Amino acid sequence: ADEIQKLRDRKRAKEHEIKDSTLPEIAIVGRSNVGKSTMLNTLTESPNTARVSSKPGLTRQLNFYRCGDKFVVVDMPGYGFAFAKEEDKTAWKELIEDYLGTRKSLKRIYVMIDARHGLKVADKEFLTMMGATSSKKFQVVLTKCDLVSPPDLARTYMVVQEELKKSFRNAMTDRILMVSSYTGAGMNTLRKDMLFECGQ
Ligand code: GTP
Ligand code: MG
Repeated sequence: ADEIQKLRDRKRAKEHEIKDSTLPEIAIVGRSNVGKSTMLNTLTESPNTARVSSKPGLTRQLNFYRCGDKFVVVDMPGYGFAFAKEEDKTAWKELIEDYLGTRKSLKRIYVMIDARHGLKVADKEFLTMMGATSSKKFQVVLTKCDLVSPPDLARTYMVVQEELKKSFRNAMTDRILMVSSYTGAGMNTLRKDMLFECGQ
């Protein structure tokens, strides 16, 4: 519980801190509008940490947030929305591939999936690209669970778990996490999971 308290004492990391950082890092990826930035705000219990918008494609860069002295969470730009220019798409892909493929302090990737939809084509395409870029394990988190009924959530859980087992060898399939940033459900489990992954 002490560690979780410290985790809440987060702050936005500065440029030089990022480059030389030896703190373990956790990357948050997922379809645009799936609720990554909102999740980060709830995780750190600070409403203004990461910018949130109902318009997809808001987050365009890697944003690093320090969680106390324990680890750094990286809010990544989402996929699946239409890029206005092809160059933008190429730049996005290079940014993601470079970070996920080469970052030494990256401990774990969390993939956010909308609990209402499960794995969509864009998710599968992204996970395939990720598998070709990085051999790191990833943990799936279902988001916006407040918007689905418990039976629907249970069904989506099973379907997603099966699809991961079948097609994505880097997926952690023992369990899938479920959260709602609006109600706070699942958030403590997610925090503990992240601390554990970072060896705390
Ligand atoms: P990009 O930066 O474009 O990749 O999007 P994002 O994944 O960071 O999504 P963001 O956090 O900006 O949230 C998108 C929309 O979903 C906002 O309107 C949020 O208020 C809403 N939202 C986020 N989390 C939840 C949730 O747990 N429940 C519900 N009902 N809505 C949510
Ligand atoms: Mg965002």
